[in-house]
Amino acid sequence: KRPAGAPDKALARPVTKVGVVGAGLMAGQLALLFARRLEVPVVLTDLDRERLDKGVGYAHGEIDKLAAKGRVSADQANRLKGLITGSLTKDAFADADFVIEAVFEEMSVKQQVFAEVEAVVSAECVLATNTSSLSVTEMAAGLAHPERVVGFHFFNPVAVLPLLEIVRGAQTDDAALATAFAVGRRLKKSCVLVKDAPAFVVNRILLRLLAEIVAAVDEGTPIETAERAAAPLGLPMPPFVLMGLVGPAIALHVNETLHAAFPDRFPLSDNLAKMVAAGKTGVYRPDLTLDPEVVEIFSGG
Ligand code: 3HC
Repeated sequence: KRPAGAPDKALARPVTKVGVVGAGLMAGQLALLFARRLEVPVVLTDLDRERLDKGVGYAHGEIDKLAAKGRVSADQANRLKGLITGSLTKDAFADADFVIEAVFEEMSVKQQVFAEVEAVVSAECVLATNTSSLSVTEMAAGLAHPERVVGFHFFNPVAVLPLLEIVRGAQTDDAALATAFAVGRRLKKSCVLVKDAPAFVVNRILLRLLAEIVAAVDEGTPIETAERAAAPLGLPMPPFVLMGLVGPAIALHVNETLHAAFPDRFPLSDNLAKMVAAGKTGVYRPDLTLDPEVVEIFSGG
């Protein structure tokens, strides 16, 4: 059944090579998913060799884990690894039909990335963004072909969570959107078409929850108490553990976007901003004990 609002499948263009801009954790997860489900070459690009090797290394490491669990054969693992390569220049995207960006959440950076990609790809190549909250329409503005830009928003961990938000920008055409849905189906994701609104749908709900729990802690409720109080909500993981999975910097960024759009509904937290400025990647340490420095920040230290 065609998802609500999705254009006619017949308009979808074939996708035989994928480009991923950025080689951070999200990009590595995307490369793995595209290679595994589409079985086409996937090339990652990043600005420096170290980040690139890390992104490709992550995807290859996950393939080894799948092989160790018997989910893919040794032959398949080798083939999949061969599909995922890295390049320091975007020229490697020249024959790609679908390029997704997963770079730093800054509009000007993403616009610049799309302009650079547009300079090397064909006019039909779909440009997708995995942005968590930024406007797809604004990101496409200034391109020669803004009609090929779509939002393609995944959820962490990408391999596990089934939902994919597909976003139509003001100028996105039916062919780009149909291609995005066709790719989403091949990725075995459950695709929904959402409006190009700040933080789309899921992050709007999620950040409302996280912003309120952070506000409760800002007001003096200890982190453990806030977590215990949230338990009856039946979330798949406690809110601050989820914040660690998403990354506090991303959570802060999405909250800032939402605060700018709906100031009364999304309180800003100075303490969350301090935690991000201190380079903290979570309230909990890897052994799931509270990080005393974060506790200190939230106690006004
Ligand atoms: N990366 C890759 N795979 C992972 C993983 C990770 N970080 N964490 C867990 N998995 C895999 C495991 O390997 C396991 O796979 P297997 O069945 O093939 O062995 C499977 O997920 C289940 O793992 P577990 O049994 O260890 O754990 P749980 O059943 O507790 O599930 C969870 C873990 C799927 C992470 C679950 O706790 C969950 O769904 N949490 C909520 C996550 C969520 O809400 N994400 C959305 C965040 S918002 C976002 O990303 C948008 C962005 O824009 C901010």
